[in-house]
Amino acid sequence: MGVDKSDDLVALCKRRGFIFQSDEIYGGQKGLYTFGPMGVELKNNLKQAWWKSVVWQRDDVEGLDASLLTSPKVLKYSGHEDTFTDPLIDCKDCKTRSRADQLIDGACPKCGSKNLTEPRPFNLMFKTNIGPVADGSSFAYLRPETAQQIFTNFKNVIDSTGRAVPFGIGQMGKSFRNEITPGKFIFRVREFEQMELEFFVKPGTDEDWFNYWVKARIDWWIEQGINRDNLEVFEAPKNDLSHYSKATTDLLYKFPHGFEELEGIANRQDFDLGSHTKNQSDYKISAKVMKNKDSTTKLGVQDLETKQFYVPYCIEPSAGVERGVFAVLNEAYHEEDVDGKTRIVLGLKPHLAPIKAAVIPLKRNNDNLVNEAKNIKNILQKLGKGRVMLENSGNIGKSYRRHDEIGTPICITIDFDSLDDHAVTVRDRDTMEQKRINTDELVNYYQEYYGKE
Ligand code: GAP
Repeated sequence: MGVDKSDDLVALCKRRGFIFQSDEIYGGQKGLYTFGPMGVELKNNLKQAWWKSVVWQRDDVEGLDASLLTSPKVLKYSGHEDTFTDPLIDCKDCKTRSRADQLIDGACPKCGSKNLTEPRPFNLMFKTNIGPVADGSSFAYLRPETAQQIFTNFKNVIDSTGRAVPFGIGQMGKSFRNEITPGKFIFRVREFEQMELEFFVKPGTDEDWFNYWVKARIDWWIEQGINRDNLEVFEAPKNDLSHYSKATTDLLYKFPHGFEELEGIANRQDFDLGSHTKNQSDYKISAKVMKNKDSTTKLGVQDLETKQFYVPYCIEPSAGVERGVFAVLNEAYHEEDVDGKTRIVLGLKPHLAPIKAAVIPLKRNNDNLVNEAKNIKNILQKLGKGRVMLENSGNIGKSYRRHDEIGTPICITIDFDSLDDHAVTVRDRDTMEQKRINTDELVNYYQEYYGKE
């Protein structure tokens, strides 16, 4: 996809209510976006697909929903306070601030000047205060990743569920990073959601589990409509690994601006549980961890065969929701020529489509048609497959165009014949084929279309 298609996609996102710039009426906020009526459905559907695959359909994963405000102690021992920084350089001439790795041949990317400051570390975490007095003792961070509270709740989850290694804890939710250079639409933003699984395994089995999760995550993205040819598997070089990682494989997606990270799968070894545990010297911890003087809880487990206590290793597949939404929209966006006119279609996988079916009375203010349409809408809505919409615009051509553009797989039209023959016209988004279906059979048709899970 070229730059043009990317502009068209961004325009469609605004026009059809997928994604807006935040605080737009006050000039907008850089790196912050709002998901509109269609965007919130798409985003929730993608998250739901992840949750189903990673939690519900497995027998070895539990879910979690932890707080976003995080104690500085958590982010001290996680290493974020020390390492979650980007080196920044200011141009003394034009005052532009850039990341050190974004200089062009050692010069300011805006004005080309080489009159620059030395690089200075800039911590990416947002700080705030808890309670009425804003002093040093009340400060907290907005979490920069969802992962950390999974580690700090490790014992709570084990104690409340009886889980034994290998098992995982999954969490989806907001993360915050004060990115210096947000941009590329929703690719790099300052407030975003992550879908993270921390999967705990016995040391020695970690490499097999790592390979297992890389494959499982590629398969999952393909199920969301990502073309395998648009995914690249990139093994991070050893000298470029995060402080916690023994190995990291990134899944790169061919975004409009090029191949970039969609999801990372890391072997975090025993770094995090080892960092957060009380009595670290009771265990053989292989990662390099900070001495912990504050934790109240031991995070090791017992090997039931050898009776030895050890700190489990952790394999972490971590995906960004915004990047996922961007990727599935990019895959789905098509323009085609129909009878000399351009038809824009979002060929989203049906389980991701914001609207599962649009029910359209042929004439707007005809009570009989509208009541029958409402009746059918309510019946389908109760089947629990997602949002069904009553489309009461009165213009069938416009309605089809709108639903093609938001990716609605099925349009159901109620016309005057329907009132007598109890049949409706069902139009398929992709083929544009129309067929007559008896209203008694509609529920079956709809349920078969969307499947069991
Ligand atoms: N817990 C590991 C972790 O947070 P990461 O590579 O920093 O690792 C994981 O982030 C994923 O979160 C990335 O692959 C990306 O999809 C998403 N992500 C990270 N920073 C982002 C940002 N500023 N905007 C949007 N998504 C982001």
